[in-house]
Amino acid sequence: MKQYIIKGGTPLSGEVTIGGAKNAALGIIVAAIMADEPVTIDNLPDVDDVRVLLDAIESIGAIVERIDSHTVRINGACINDVSIDEDAIRKIRGSYYLVGALLGKYKKALVALPGGCQIGSRPIDQHIKGFEQLGAKVSIHHGKIDAQAENLVGTHIYLDCPSVGATINIMMAACMAEGKTIIENPAKEPHIVDVANFLNSMGADIKGAGTDKIRINGVSKLHSSEYSIIPDQIEAGTFMVAAAATHGDVLIKNVIPKHLEAISVKLIEIGATVEEYDDAVRVSADHRLGHTQVKTLPYPGFPTDMQPQIATLLALSEGTSTVTESIFENRFKYVDELARMGASIKVEGNVAIIEGVEGFTGAAISAPDLRAGAALVVAGLVAEGYTTIDSIHFIERGYENFEGKITALGAVS
Ligand code: UD1
Repeated sequence: MKQYIIKGGTPLSGEVTIGGAKNAALGIIVAAIMADEPVTIDNLPDVDDVRVLLDAIESIGAIVERIDSHTVRINGACINDVSIDEDAIRKIRGSYYLVGALLGKYKKALVALPGGCQIGSRPIDQHIKGFEQLGAKVSIHHGKIDAQAENLVGTHIYLDCPSVGATINIMMAACMAEGKTIIENPAKEPHIVDVANFLNSMGADIKGAGTDKIRINGVSKLHSSEYSIIPDQIEAGTFMVAAAATHGDVLIKNVIPKHLEAISVKLIEIGATVEEYDDAVRVSADHRLGHTQVKTLPYPGFPTDMQPQIATLLALSEGTSTVTESIFENRFKYVDELARMGASIKVEGNVAIIEGVEGFTGAAISAPDLRAGAALVVAGLVAEGYTTIDSIHFIERGYENFEGKITALGAVS
């Protein structure tokens, strides 16, 4: 079994370059099959979730050419099947986008229900509601989502909660529906805007992504495009926290500082230094940081995907902090692992009450999911002695060359 073995105690220092956004890439790879012409996607993160999705679209006939590890050319002209049910795609979340894309283009899709990190119940009722309002009949049988429509017709859709997945999925189906669709209360995450920009680059007509109302005029065809994915907000945020936690000094390059504001504000509040440049942020800390309150919220609030990392930092900071998780109900599984390293965290409902300790000691621990796994790496970087982290396949789903990047910043493994 693959493991990380980390010798803690070295402040991270130097420069790190952030890759393309995983969650944008998953939407964009799938959206690319909606065109019957070649689409070139650049700044693709070379991570497991991306590889699984590329294999999935290839399995239904899309032509997938890996030009290099960060560039792929996809042509959806030869797709000959709308049914996907492989083991691998049942394990990732982004596979649900295949429903929106295939339904939009072919008016039918039969796709295995998505998996992803076990961080809560993760229903897809809002996706289904959107497809049905566009005119599809949707049923779930034998573990698959079966969506079919005679015709998709634009309509007014109000999301009960601003779901990232539902917003992107409905946007994809609606961009090839007849007439105008309005999505009210959509998610506004940076990758929503990126997927909309990508669809527009292929000839879709989507306005308002990133605001409270998305307006889509359906088109009958999408065309070829060349597109570069935005940088990954969460990978960048993870390195920001790692720099602060290790009392290091790291220049994090290829980022959009605006996407990192919620994270920067919290780091500054507890005493770290964050300097913003056009496409980089530099994070440093030379003393023990202070306490604060963090509540996860949809963008532009504090991202739930940064919750385990910031909690780990606060577990080392002075005083009592609280971290409230308001998006997923089961996202504190890493707390027991941190406890093995000496953290003092009590979870009451969706709130973690954190009594900061002066330091961690290395232990044998296991990554419970992707972002929690990254948080445990941060803990290992700080801990006295050696930390062994199992189940790192979770981390490899979403972080490209994580080990190489932290080692280049001085971490000892
Ligand atoms: C996506 C991200 C994930 C991130 C999350 C929130 C991908 C592949 N994954 O997950 O990394 O943590 O956004 O930023 O992009 N909900 C419903 N019904 C639905 C859909 C969602 O009730 O039909 C609820 C969920 O239970 C959750 C909240 O809405 O409480 C947000 O979920 P959503 O934004 O859909 O998350 P995912 O798309 O699963």
